[in-house]
Amino acid sequence: MYTKEQTQQLQKLTNEWMSSGKADNNTIEQLRDVLRFHEYRYYVLNDPLISDVEYDGLYKQLENFEKSNPDAITPDSPTQRVGSSLNTSFVTVQHIVPMLSLENSYNADDLIDWDRKARELTGLDKVEYCIEPKFDGASISLIYENDLLTRAATRGDGVEGEEITTNIKRIKSVPLSAKFSTYDIEQIEIRGEVMMNKNSFKKYNEQLQEQNLLPLANPRNAASGSLRMKDPKEVAKRNLEAFLYNVSFLTNKTSNAHTNVKLPTHSSMLEMLWQLGFHSPKAEKKVVKGIDDVIQYVNEYEYKRDDLPYEIDGMVIKVNDLSLQDKMGMTTHHPRWAIAFKFKARQATSKLIKVEFQVGRTGSITPVAKIEPVPIGGVTVSSISLFNEDVVREKDLHIGDTVLVERAGDVIPYIVKPLAELRDGTEKPIIFPKNCPVCGDELVKPEDEAVWRCVNINCKAQVVERIIHFVSKDAMDIKSFGEANVRKFYELGLLKDVPGIYQLDFDVISKLEGFGKKSIDNLHTAIENSKTQPLHRLIFALGIRYVGETTAKTLAHKITNLLDLKNFSEEQLQQFDDVGVKVAASIYQFFGNKDNIEMLHKLQQLGVQLESSKQQLAVGDSLAGKMFLFTGTLEKLKRSDAEELVEKNGGSIVGSVTSKLNYLVVGADAGSKLEKAKKIPAIKIISEEDFIKMIPK
Ligand code: IVH
Repeated sequence: MYTKEQTQQLQKLTNEWMSSGKADNNTIEQLRDVLRFHEYRYYVLNDPLISDVEYDGLYKQLENFEKSNPDAITPDSPTQRVGSSLNTSFVTVQHIVPMLSLENSYNADDLIDWDRKARELTGLDKVEYCIEPKFDGASISLIYENDLLTRAATRGDGVEGEEITTNIKRIKSVPLSAKFSTYDIEQIEIRGEVMMNKNSFKKYNEQLQEQNLLPLANPRNAASGSLRMKDPKEVAKRNLEAFLYNVSFLTNKTSNAHTNVKLPTHSSMLEMLWQLGFHSPKAEKKVVKGIDDVIQYVNEYEYKRDDLPYEIDGMVIKVNDLSLQDKMGMTTHHPRWAIAFKFKARQATSKLIKVEFQVGRTGSITPVAKIEPVPIGGVTVSSISLFNEDVVREKDLHIGDTVLVERAGDVIPYIVKPLAELRDGTEKPIIFPKNCPVCGDELVKPEDEAVWRCVNINCKAQVVERIIHFVSKDAMDIKSFGEANVRKFYELGLLKDVPGIYQLDFDVISKLEGFGKKSIDNLHTAIENSKTQPLHRLIFALGIRYVGETTAKTLAHKITNLLDLKNFSEEQLQQFDDVGVKVAASIYQFFGNKDNIEMLHKLQQLGVQLESSKQQLAVGDSLAGKMFLFTGTLEKLKRSDAEELVEKNGGSIVGSVTSKLNYLVVGADAGSKLEKAKKIPAIKIISEEDFIKMIPK
């Protein structure tokens, strides 16, 4: 999209605008170009050249200028993504060309059959195909007229969809204008998919859960649910992306033709979209001749699937030559010139045997479905959380139902729906308990919440769950402790609360069956080591309601000693990132509770460090200022330990490959991150061995 010279020129202009701030009628379009350039770097290339704060500063300048000069506003100004009004209804619109679906294939034989038909229809010995990922999101159609985005619509029934232009404008990887005129194009309809990447999905769900809201089932639902939201601001919050993969219609400026001589193939269309600033599968696509290479590429890609930052559910194979596509035409349902190759299903059916009610560490009662074990995408699933009573009611689940189960990528398995048509009348309703299944106390349901709760904080289930959480991998990471030992020691009266972890009687434990000297030594060392865990881990380990790992890190950055949190008011806590009213109230309540403070003092007396991780981390500064990212499977170090080593030596960890990254440490089976890093000369690509050598003894 931007040449090296253009990039350098725009970066120079960026610096000028940042230092001068001299917007006027003649130069304002330059500032817009600068902002568009940085949106492209951030949202399409995922490789920003300036910080968020710097971008915001430039954006504010443009906004201020346009406020005092409203006549100078252009429809494709970066400020015009932000319409103020809510969507009250979505108007039904007709697609220029119906949005057909694709025929599916599942194995090499299906592809070979389809290729035979393609060869018959085209009369060729070998057909040229373009292969690209099948993006698993929500499909959209965009129309640009005279270089401006004029309409965005959902797929709807394929013939008619709903107009969602205001919401789509909030997705920053969708250009508000694009120079189609340089290709002689006047009007164009483009197809694509709106997606939420795995990382944004995870973060968004963490936020929902921290606020006690129901998590979204998978990134696909998260994306499709976003398109028709009333408040475009909410769309912006979801961090959506758009991939554009097909041109379905165009008119030329200088002729009446609906094909374009400069663009004779599907792959050249994808190149054009990329050139004009769209996120099209330019790097992901592959053009091959004949079906053998297609089969090889789709098989290769299936291995990469889990490494991609977003979900794909297969590959799409298209006849590359657009005149051949026309010749082949379509059936009533799908084009004959394309086929989807679906990856192995991550859905399966099973039987719902029973529902158990588990008591969480905050007393929440979670219904858990026990199903007949079924393998899905390489993992056997037998237990599935149903979150709360409303979910069970909404899905109308019954004991004995045949249920459809899905497990997508990194996402926990969930029940999509019961197959009601398979019921035989023996199914039983699911009855919710009135009393805690563990301590018997009456359950309560706070007004603004969806879950029932046991409010007896001494309820055995809660105490045990709190200890299990405390020792768990993401919290204090006390290896070889584990859930089973917590339960065992608790049952035997050897452990009754969190401080008890640091007062275990190892003489008694050594007499228990299954505890040899080695395992006792390991457990002892792990407990001792946990005393110096970074502060954010300790905060997370306390299991304060709504305080997840992200919030724990935010809090740890603000204090030097854990007990400092006693001194913050709710209002002060709300000033922190990601800390809303509810979260602040919960933290305030925790630190206002005498018993909790007593517990913290006890932990301190037992040797647990309550000081800030900043002080604890000051081990060395040999990696100061250097940014690291790990990819693939490491052999010697655990990923989290390696990351901690970087931080302890003054370096930092980044989440993605950008030009700011200094070192990419590559383990076995590295995927797209490595490919991306290879294209940026400034990044040093090193092995795990090399990395270990960099760490002082
Ligand atoms: S081409 C007429 N390409 O899959 C053909 N579709 O079941 C237009 N999809 O509705 C579609 N990735 O939502 C095409 N690279 C890709 C795709 C893709 C995902 C979706 C699209 C379509 C559905 C077909």
